[in-house]
Amino acid sequence: MHFPLIEKTDVIGVIGAGTMGAGIAQLAAVHGHPVRLLDTSEGAAAAAIARIAKALAVLVDKGRISEADCSAAISRLQPVDKLDAMADAALVIEAIVENLQIKQQLMRSLEQVVKPDAILATNTSSISVTAIANGMQHPERLAGMHFFNPVPLMKLVEVIAGAETHADVLERITALAERWGKTAVHAASTPGFIVNRIARPYYAEALQLLQEQAGAPAQLDRAMRSIGFRMGPCELMDLIGHDVNYAVTTSVFDANYGDRRYQPSLVQKALLDGGRLGRKVGKGFYDGTPPALPEPVALTSGVPAKVVVAGNDAMSKQMSDFFAQRGLKAEHHPETSWQGLMIDDAQLRFSDGRCAAQLAHESGLDALGVMDVPLLSESSNAIAIAFAPRMPEASRQKVCAVLNQAGLEAVVLRDVPGLLVARTVAMLINEACDAVWQGVCTESAADLAMKLGVNYPAGPFEWLQQLGPHRVITTLDHLFDAYRSERYRVSPLLRQMAWLG
Ligand code: NAI
Repeated sequence: MHFPLIEKTDVIGVIGAGTMGAGIAQLAAVHGHPVRLLDTSEGAAAAAIARIAKALAVLVDKGRISEADCSAAISRLQPVDKLDAMADAALVIEAIVENLQIKQQLMRSLEQVVKPDAILATNTSSISVTAIANGMQHPERLAGMHFFNPVPLMKLVEVIAGAETHADVLERITALAERWGKTAVHAASTPGFIVNRIARPYYAEALQLLQEQAGAPAQLDRAMRSIGFRMGPCELMDLIGHDVNYAVTTSVFDANYGDRRYQPSLVQKALLDGGRLGRKVGKGFYDGTPPALPEPVALTSGVPAKVVVAGNDAMSKQMSDFFAQRGLKAEHHPETSWQGLMIDDAQLRFSDGRCAAQLAHESGLDALGVMDVPLLSESSNAIAIAFAPRMPEASRQKVCAVLNQAGLEAVVLRDVPGLLVARTVAMLINEACDAVWQGVCTESAADLAMKLGVNYPAGPFEWLQQLGPHRVITTLDHLFDAYRSERYRVSPLLRQMAWLG
């Protein structure tokens, strides 16, 4: 079968005029396509076009588009109420209810009315494209075209290949997405595709820490924001909605036959059960809107302590540079067998997945704590730390004061294995490695997808570059030992990377 290029003046059909369908219709119309918008709910397509007109009027007010372009785009949007209206479409994208049988039925019916070489796409976020294509006469014409909400703003489109999708179909919709100003990444049709799969640990590790009473949501959010995330995991789950977030996790968990790596959390289930769905109902982890970004920590001076950066790995080097930027004097002792900070006689080691109690037990030291891997930047203002049980109070205070002096609020958590950033980033990297190992996507697609689809400050393979495979593997192996759980098993790709250096 031959699939022609999709031209600028070709008709685009959009089925489902809800949040996503309206966004896709707007995008296509703004880029010059006549758009047919269909919804089974009466008046929904016309209402969506009215919403789009409002959104475009705001852009006119802001000077982003001209009045003429705005009216031209609106005139290209046509509400329709019969599938037959899709007869002249070069591409039909469905964004209807997330239900396999209904989507299958729609694709089968669509095939009866569209041109023989028309391409069909599904915006499903969690259903297998291969399964949606099942029963079609030409399953090769269907691909996933997974947009992100809000569609006009979010740069990413995941282009998903089902088992039978034709290579030309992928090529055509990739070219189209790029013409529409998006970045397209390719993924195989597997649970969660790229973003919704790799992102799971961002929520899961925070929820696990909350279950283990490691700290409060605001503490976890503060420490994660400090490495460049726009939102911490708890406030982000509040924004997404716990019903939606829990449903995605459950779908990925079920689709993977109950793999513990994706296990939903009792903490989130309790929020759901109690109706604390997040911002949309005014309560979740937080009541109302989450607290504003923390004020930068005031720099105090004159902490009477000798500060040494220990170790010669990339993290130690980064810590030294960070202290220098913040005007804090620290000696550098590269020859130590461990990495971290020495503050007078107290050690604050970079987390390698072991908790401070275990390190204190193994080393025979009392004055010992752990700190999160310092993936710090200019705007960092907090870091998670934890203390071994016998760490003297005076040493604890001195450690906090020194970090404070460097502009870092010490977010003191319960002494759990792998702290927060160390375990979360290790798990994000591991998940990305498994996705690549299993042929879901390439390394660069994973990095792009996480940065553009969910605004991560760096891609998982960029973090891997910074931390090195050995540190990540050590962290995961220690977590595996601590929990004796397959959840923390190391991806074969990560081990190979370490062996290959
Ligand atoms: P929505 O509930 O806002 O809109 C769905 C629309 O489809 C409704 O207007 C409904 O009347 C209509 N509809 C249902 N069955 C239909 C049928 N058989 N034929 C025609 N219209 C029908 O849903 P939303 O959020 O826009 O999601 C749509 C799809 O996009 C789902 O597959 C969802 O998983 C996916 N998606 C959603 C994202 C989001 O953030 N909301 C992000 C990416 C994908």
